Formats: sequence, structure tokens, C-alpha cells
Amino acid sequence: MRNTRRSFFARVLLTATWLWLCSGALAAGGNGIDETKSFGACTLALQTTHFSDVGPNATKLEEKCQSRLRHLSLYLCLKVYGRSGGWADELAAQNDTCERFLHTPLPPFDIVANYTDTEVPRLRQVTLQDWNDRVTFDEEVIVSDALHGIAYGTLYAWDYAYSRHFSYGWAMAVFWIVVVLAGASARLVSAIRRHRGSSEKSQSRMRTVIDRVPAWVCRHITAPATFGYRCAQNLGWCTIPPRGQSLTILVFLILNIFVSTNGYIVMPVNLYFNTPTKQLLRYVSDRTGIVSFANFPMIWLFGMRNNLALWLTGWDFGTYNNFHRWVARIATLQAVVHSIGYTVLILLDGGWEYFAWWWTQLFFWTGEVATILMCLLLGLAVYWLRRKQYETFLIIHVVLSIFILLTMLGHVSIFKVRYDLMVWIPATIWAADRILRVSRTLSFNRRFWNTKASVKYDPSSNIIRLAVPSSSSLYTPQPGTFYYLHVLSDKRFWESHPFTMAYSTGAREACGKDLGENAPLLPAQHGRGGDEAFAVGSEGGEGEPSMVGFLIRPYDGFTSRLRDAASRSSRCPQSGPVSIQVLVEGPYGRTGPFVEYENVLFVVGGSGIVVAMAYLRSLVSNAGVRSVGIVWAVREPAFAEDILLRDLGPLVGGKKVSLKICMTLGSGCAGFTVPELPEGVRLQYGRPDVRLEVEDAAGDMPPSERLAVVACGPARMADDARRAVVESMGSNGPRVEYFEESFRW
Ligand SMILES: Cc1cc2nc3c(=O)[nH]c(=O)nc-3n(C[C@H](O)[C@H](O)[C@H](O)COP(=O)(O)OP(=O)(O)OC[C@H]3O[C@@H](n4cnc5c(N)ncnc54)[C@H](O)[C@@H]3O)c2cc1C
Ligand SMILES: NC(=O)c1ccc[n+]([C@@H]2O[C@H](COP(=O)([O-])OP(=O)(O)OC[C@H]3O[C@@H](n4cnc5c(N)ncnc54)[C@H](OP(=O)(O)O)[C@@H]3O)[C@@H](O)[C@H]2O)c1
Ligand SMILES: *[C@@H]1O[C@H](CO)[C@@H](O)[C@H](O)[C@H]1NC(C)=O
Ligand SMILES: *[C@@H]1O[C@H](CO)[C@@H](O)[C@H](O)[C@H]1NC(C)=O
Ligand SMILES: *[C@@H]1O[C@H](CO)[C@@H](O)[C@H](O)[C@H]1NC(C)=O
Repeated sequence: MRNTRRSFFARVLLTATWLWLCSGALAAGGNGIDETKSFGACTLALQTTHFSDVGPNATKLEEKCQSRLRHLSLYLCLKVYGRSGGWADELAAQNDTCERFLHTPLPPFDIVANYTDTEVPRLRQVTLQDWNDRVTFDEEVIVSDALHGIAYGTLYAWDYAYSRHFSYGWAMAVFWIVVVLAGASARLVSAIRRHRGSSEKSQSRMRTVIDRVPAWVCRHITAPATFGYRCAQNLGWCTIPPRGQSLTILVFLILNIFVSTNGYIVMPVNLYFNTPTKQLLRYVSDRTGIVSFANFPMIWLFGMRNNLALWLTGWDFGTYNNFHRWVARIATLQAVVHSIGYTVLILLDGGWEYFAWWWTQLFFWTGEVATILMCLLLGLAVYWLRRKQYETFLIIHVVLSIFILLTMLGHVSIFKVRYDLMVWIPATIWAADRILRVSRTLSFNRRFWNTKASVKYDPSSNIIRLAVPSSSSLYTPQPGTFYYLHVLSDKRFWESHPFTMAYSTGAREACGKDLGENAPLLPAQHGRGGDEAFAVGSEGGEGEPSMVGFLIRPYDGFTSRLRDAASRSSRCPQSGPVSIQVLVEGPYGRTGPFVEYENVLFVVGGSGIVVAMAYLRSLVSNAGVRSVGIVWAVREPAFAEDILLRDLGPLVGGKKVSLKICMTLGSGCAGFTVPELPEGVRLQYGRPDVRLEVEDAAGDMPPSERLAVVACGPARMADDARRAVVESMGSNGPRVEYFEESFRW
């Protein structure tokens, strides 16, 4: 009983699968016979038969060009099954071939003129059985109706699958072009809306209507985490992108499942592949191979720092990094299906010996190796390795990618140049990225070898301050941008790591020129000179070289070596900064549109404060911004004090800027020596309640105003802020928006 039920379900499942796989055939059913295929069908139907009027040692071509019986049989087939013509060009082409290579033109078609409709059926028929038995005939023959149908079907099914290989391959690029264009137009529309909004502020009723749709999209699609909460945080070894990205990836995944499983006609009998299994194996293998390859350009494009799609949409590198990973995962899976499919097909055809023979073929072994390398690359890009051994991960990633492109070039060498393009496009994208990286480095300093940074490490605040002269930079450093730093004197000078600009100024005292042993990197604490640099409008005194400043939290690799380099000569706490040679590549990233909001709330943790620092000056000097709140969780009292007095001091206070420092280490105020906090600064012990902070900020503002929440901190903190914003969108609609500056990808 149970068994029969199981077999019933199995059968239903099997039937459904077949229906799905063969839906192409159903769709094709109504089309009738396409007579342009009659030449191919007749040739295929006669492919295995021999005629006795040429010797047994005759080549295929000799038989084709010189066997009169074959000519008669072919012409008869064309006469019967290709009544409306459509085969003349192909016959002429074959005539040319025979003329050129064997100097024996085909006889004229008239030789079958005296075969009447009543005589033809009386001729000896070639059947499927004869086809399979490779029979030799000593008379002219007529292809049987059934055999012709099978030959025709074989060609039809092949063309059906094949044309879809290409259109489905193109669909991959089209999908991403649509996504990028959608992103670019959304950006354009919101820019126009902002522009209009600022000129017609009074028509707020109109605005709310126009805002409604984007607001819904924002609240339910783009802003929230995929499953509501976790986004910046990992889930075991997985990272979960925001919902908008996840949905895009999901649609892409569904599209890939569709194109890999759909558009095949599987027939009970097929002259190319004698069993349905082999037909399916071959079609699916070809399809997945081609679609996988079609995904290559996107994998490279989305993985690059310099990326056209990123410039068009304004989405950050993290977004494209997620796309990069998923396209790569899908393409790898397809490559695996492709390779396994062909391997099984070969084993079915000739066993292991035959398989071993294929390994002597360049295109075959390079293909198998490429798939293995792709799997290795995927396996060695796991979250754990990326986090714990970033540099190892990176080297493996680059080296394996190069080998994959090379083996793929070998793999497609059997085709003419048609597929080579799919290797050259990724290679070009890669090369272009490298060239742009070099030009960014040069744009920061033409004499790139001569960029001297002053670094100082303070053990009590556990932070490295690094300042680089930026007067030679073609771009004025902007808030929200980040730079990749190489340390040339480091033993691993090729390593580069991203750091967000914390401040830029022209009034710093330390500069490349007079950086003596004792020259202070930054003015002495509580000194006024340095503070002036951050005062509104002090864009830099005349003649003073401008600087870009970074605050760097030391971790285990690059940053710990930087710390060691910085503390080498600063054993005694009063000593000055160290000068090191760096290479600066940038800027990357964009300045957020925060000046367009009346209220801005920064929710930052630890070194995340740099984001608030970078934007603060422009926000304070912008009249449209009414209030700026900073909630900063920090462990080291010395760090908090340092930033407060040196960097934020002159800007906080007043009605506009408020700063809440949340000290999370220790219970007392041990170490915090500032006797009197400036106005607008509050000190709290313990972690901030991020949700409450967002609620308060949103609740405090008048209904006509908007709030931007900018998070930069530990993953939990960012996720808390994201969720709080999404919740607050419920009551505040489009007036609250979430921005995340992530320090990890
Ligand atoms: C856009 C951006 C801006 C940043 N701005 C700042 C900043 O202003 N101040 C600051 O202190 N830190 C910043 N960071 C973080 C900083 O880049 C990492 O702390 C640094 O790369 C760690 O290097 P490490 O070898 O010492 O660390 P490790 O101990 O080897 O690694 C620590 C973590 O950093 C990640 N990481 C390592 N190398 C890179 C890399 N080249 N690119 C991306 N992630 C990497 C690893 O995955 C790991 O999770 C920023 C990161 C990003 C992505
Ligand atoms: N770990 C890495 O591999 C790595 C590398 C580079 C950058 N980053 C990221 O860079 C940013 C800053 O790093 P950092 O080392 O300067 O920071 P940090 O010194 O670790 O400071 C983080 C601060 O945020 C507080 N905090 C943590 N989780 C919180 C939460 N859920 N709600 C409220 N407050 C919370 C911490 O409090 P407690 O003291 O109570 O924890 C601490 O005060 C973070 O995003 C960090 O993840 C991380
Ligand atoms: C065909 O080739 C075989 C082997 O090369 C040879 O022995 C035979 O004589 C040839 N037959 C004819 C008809 O040429
Ligand atoms: C092949 O070409 C010759 C002349 O080169 C011509 O006489 C003959 O009719 C052609 N045969 C067919 C089938 O077109
Ligand atoms: C057609 O004519 C040819 C000679 O031109 C002859 O060999 C052949 O047998 C004829 N066929 C029929 C069916 O009459």
C-alpha cells in the first residue's frame, strides 16, 4: 500500500519533471515541419548508409560527391520531403565543395525527374533499423517517412536547445543591465525630486503623494534586513545582504534555474543521442556551460573597486560585492553541472578508457581543471578565511582567478574566436581596474613614491593617527570617502587596506617638509592651533600644506604592523610622530547626501567616529541642517577625551550639535579627566540604547523635517540602528532614512 502510493508520487513527480523539461516540445508542437531543414534532415537520414557504387575505402567526401546512388537517394528525399524548396543553397554549397576538392560536380537535380509519385513509394525504403545497422545498398533508396521524421526532429530539437543557449546566455547580461539601469534611474529620479523639493518646499501635500511609492519601497524592500534583523552581522559562516539585494539575487537565481532547466526537447528516439538521458545530459551540459561562461564578465565587474555599474547606480562596494559572490556561486554551480554532465556522457559512451583519452585533449582537460579551480576558489572564499586571513584569501583569489581565465581560454580553443571574448572581457575589466587604481594613486600624488605620512600611536587610546599631505591631490578630500593605504617601508608593501578619511585640513602644523623628530603630529592637547583647524570655515591657511587625516584602530595584520612602526620611536609618550612612506590610492566612495536633511543622527562605535568627524564641519556650516546628534560608544577614555578636545571640541556645543559619549569600559569614570564637559556633550556609562536614540531623534523633530540616521560601528549596533529606522519609518514614513558606512565587506 505504502509502496504503491510512493511509486504513484514518484510517477507524478517524474511526469511533472518531464513536462517541465519538455515544455519546449509542447510549445513547438504546433509549428509543423520547417522545410528549410529538409536538406539537413535528408543528409542526416542517409548519414550511416553506404552505397555499393563507391569502394569500401572511400572517404565520406568521396562517397558524398561520387556515389550516383547516393545522389539519386538524396535528391529523391529532397523531392519528396522538401517540396517547397529551401534546400537549394545547401545543395549548391555541397556542389561547390565537391567541385573544389574532388573536381566532380554533383549531377543536376533533373536526374530524379523521371521518378513519378507512383514510382517513388515502390523504391526500397531506408528505415531506422537500416540507419542503426549501417546497411550498404546497391540501388537508389527512399528515406522512410518515419526516419525522415526522426531526422527532422533531431535537428529541430538541437536547434531549439542551441538557439536558447545563446539567448539565455545573453539574458544574464540583460538582467544586470536592467538592474543597473533601474538603480541609475531611481537615483536620477530622486535627484530630480530633491531638486524640485528644495525649490517648492511649500507644496508638501504634492510631495507626500509623489513620495508614497518610494517610501513604501524603502520601508519594505530596500532598507530592512532580509529577514528583519541580521544584516551587518554574520549568521555562522553566512552573511545576509539587505532585503533589496537579497531579492535581486533571488530573482537572478530563479532566472538561472529557469534558463538551466528549460528549453529542451527530449525525444524517445534521436539520431544524435540515442537515449533520452543522453539528450538531456548533452543539452543541459551545453546550456549550463554557456550560461556559466556568460556570467563571467559580471563576476569580474562586480568584484572591482573601479566599477562602472557602481558609478552609475551610486550603490556601494559592499552591494556589488554581494552580487559578485552570488553570480560567482551560481556560475560555479553551472560549471560543475556542465563538467559532470559531459563526464557522465563520456562514461556512458565509452567508459573510463574513453574518459582517459579525452584527458589528452587540451580543451577537455583545461575545462575540467577550470571547474575544479572554480570550486576551489569558492571554497577558499569562505567567510572564515576572509575574516581571519584576509591577505591569504586575497592572494589565493587573485592567483586562482588568473588560472581560471587561462584554462577557460584553453577550454574554448576548439571553438573559433566566438567564445574567446568571454575571457577577454573579464581580463579587460580587470586590467582597466588596475589602470584606474594606478591613476587614482597618481591623482593623489604624482610623485607617488614620495608620500610621507606622519603616524602616531597612542597606547592609552589604542588608536593610530595618520596624516598625509594632500596638496598634490587632484581631488579635494571629501567626507565619506575612503582611501587605500600601502606602507612602502613595510615588509608587505603590496598590502593595501581601506580607511575612511577622518578629517582634511590645510592648517595642520605637521607637514611633509618640517617633520622633525619632535614636531608634533597634532597640536598639543588642549592646544588652540589644532582646534582651529576644525573650526568652521578654517579651510586652511595660506601656504600651509593641506592634510588628510585617518584614525586607525589596530587589529592583527597590517594595522598592527602600522602600530608597531608608529610606536618605534614613541616609546616615551611625549615624543613626536614617525614619518613613514605610504602610497595612497583614492578617493573611493561617495559623500552621503546628509546636508539635505534637517536632522542627522550618527550612531557610531569605536573608530566609527571618523565618519561623524568627516561630515561634521560641512553639516555645521550648512544652514539647512538644524541639528546633528552623535551617539558614540567607545571603550577607551583617552580616545574619547582626545577626540572630544582635539577634533570635535570647537564644533560641538551650541544648539546645533550634541554629542553623547557612551563609555563602555569599567564602571566608573576612571581615566576620563576632562573636568568640565562642553555644552551639548553628555557622558554615559554603558552601551547606548540604539533604538531609543533613533526614536528620540525621530520624535523630536517637527513634522515637516527629515532625519538621516548614519550608522558606523560594530555589526550589532548597525543592525539595531537599521531595525530602529525601519520601525520608525512606519510612523514617520519617508522622513527617516538609514545610511550605513560599513568597515567590512
Ligand atoms: C570602507 C572601509 C573604511 C574603513 N575605514 C576605517 C577607518 O577609518 N579606521 C579604521 O580603523 N578602520 C577602517 N576600516 C577597517 C580597516 O580597513 C580594517 O580594520 C583593516 O583592513 C584591518 O587590517 P588588518 O590586516 O590589520 O586586520 P586583520 O586582523 O587581518 O583583519 C581584521 C578584519 O579586517 C578585514 N580586512 C582586512 N583587510 C582588509 C582589506 N584590505 N579590505 C577590507 N577588509 C579587510 C578582515 O576581513 C577582518 O575582518 C575600514 C574598512 C572599510 C571597508
Ligand atoms: N573586528 C574586526 O575584524 C574589525 C576590523 C575592522 C573594523 N571593524 C569594525 O570597525 C568598527 C569600529 O571598530 P573598533 O575596533 O574601533 O570598535 P570598538 O573599539 O570595538 O568599539 C565598539 C564600541 O561599540 C560598542 N558596542 C558594541 N556593540 C554594541 C551594540 N550592539 N550596541 C551599542 N553599542 C555597542 C562597544 O561596547 P562594548 O565595549 O560594550 O563592546 C564599544 O564601545 C566596528 O564596526 C568594527 O566591527 C571590525
Ligand atoms: C581498403 O583498405 C584496406 C586496408 O588499407 C586494403 O587491404 C584493401 O585492399 C582496400 N580495398 C580496396 C577496395 O581498395
Ligand atoms: C553542380 O554544378 C554543375 C556545374 O558546375 C552543374 O552542372 C550541376 O547542375 C550542379 N548540380 C546541382 C545539383 O546543382
Ligand atoms: C530514369 O532515367 C534513368 C536514365 O536517365 C534510368 O536509369 C532510370 O532507371 C529511370 N528511372 C525510372 C524510375 O524510370
